[in-house]
Amino acid sequence: MGLSTAVCFAAKFHTAAIDIDSARVVQLNSGRVPIHEKGLKPLLEKGLKSRRLSFSSEPSAVEGSDALFIAVGTPSNQDGSIDLAQVRAASVDIGGVIKRAPNKPLVMVRSTVIPGTAREVVKPLLEQSSGKTCGTGFGLCSNPEFLREGTAIQDTMLPQRIVLGPFDDGSLHAASALYRRFYGKKTPPTVVTTPEGAELVKYGSNSLLASRVSFINLIARVCELFPGTDVGDVALGIGLDPRIGRQFLQAGPGFGGSCFPKDIRAFSAYLEGLAIDSSILKSVLRINDFQPEHVVALAEAKAGPLGGKKVAVLGLAFKAETGDVRESRSIPVVKMLLEKGASVHTYDPAASLPKGSGLDSAVRSPSVSECLRGADLAIVMTAWRQFKALRPRDFQALMRTPVLLDARRVYDPKVFSRTLQYFAVGRGEDEKR
Ligand code: UGA
Repeated sequence: MGLSTAVCFAAKFHTAAIDIDSARVVQLNSGRVPIHEKGLKPLLEKGLKSRRLSFSSEPSAVEGSDALFIAVGTPSNQDGSIDLAQVRAASVDIGGVIKRAPNKPLVMVRSTVIPGTAREVVKPLLEQSSGKTCGTGFGLCSNPEFLREGTAIQDTMLPQRIVLGPFDDGSLHAASALYRRFYGKKTPPTVVTTPEGAELVKYGSNSLLASRVSFINLIARVCELFPGTDVGDVALGIGLDPRIGRQFLQAGPGFGGSCFPKDIRAFSAYLEGLAIDSSILKSVLRINDFQPEHVVALAEAKAGPLGGKKVAVLGLAFKAETGDVRESRSIPVVKMLLEKGASVHTYDPAASLPKGSGLDSAVRSPSVSECLRGADLAIVMTAWRQFKALRPRDFQALMRTPVLLDARRVYDPKVFSRTLQYFAVGRGEDEKR
């Protein structure tokens, strides 16, 4: 998020980006991108070439800035609650930078933080370390972002909304002016609320989106009980109600990534701390946690005992168009397959399994064909275009026994079940079988 924000801002503004990882800073300054993200590299190169963009591990590199964005990570503590250590460290660093500022810089909290963080954590730390007062010495505004991995650049360049939770009128004015200058006529609708309101918009959005995914996965389980019933049809029937809408009703192996699981956990822990019933979020997580187990149970039900069989897992990334495996559902699926004694071969065009995660015995195949060759079962875990382009004959030609479990529901069952033993999450097995 920080990197996408920086390269996009550099299209118009002089932008200095700070990271404590000095190796990454060197990498970025030489134009190398550390992640798989569409459109990032050309913007990075353009920014560096124009000299409007630079990276440093020294906070002093952002001295003199008109606006400073906190875009650090907010991981989970052991108990699921939010770990604000990076937010605290960044606030102290920024305070040190704005101490000497002759202007009145604006600090924007873009990291996902629980309600009250900007007021109770960021503001006092900025005030302490700068010796200045919020509102007179510097501006402060909660400003959550909504970009998705894989479309981060597009989402930053053309966001659907801007949410601002300023601490005072001056901060609102400065934040609105900054975005108007950047987006011009394309400035999206702006929601202005309190800092806590802005922080809540982010948790509300991610919780609701994740709930939709768990909800449709629940419906998918029921569909599987009835021959020929497909959750895609059911989701269409539900989603055509304009009050509901069609997006985020794709059944599959559950949600992963660096945001939904951690944010739902953090929000749930936060609500518990307030003695507010968070069982709705707990159910969302429970359903999600069960999905990988369900995928493996389906695999076993369709392909028989997996011990000694070659299983091809297509896709490791938590979703297509990213190399990110954080909380990817493929990880528990691979783990369970290995535990069942399967010989697991994986292929992903951009991602690999984290080292030392107990998954080292899974073989990383150099290509889809190698992954599928001689396999007894193939499981599609990520909806990469490359996988979508595969035809039934590709599976038939390469696999020993062409049993295909489509956990992402990328194929047309009518076409694929003609010649393959094709099964999908959320689809009741056709009666002819
Ligand atoms: C999510 C939100 O969509 C962004 O708006 C937000 O800014 C971001 O988190 C964040 O908090 O930073 P992201 O994690 O990149 O973005 O990915 P999504 O596209 O939301 O997908 C999350 C997971 O849900 C993926 O594993 C995806 O495969 C799964 N999913 C999504 C489904 O299983 N079904 C769906 O219908 C949609």
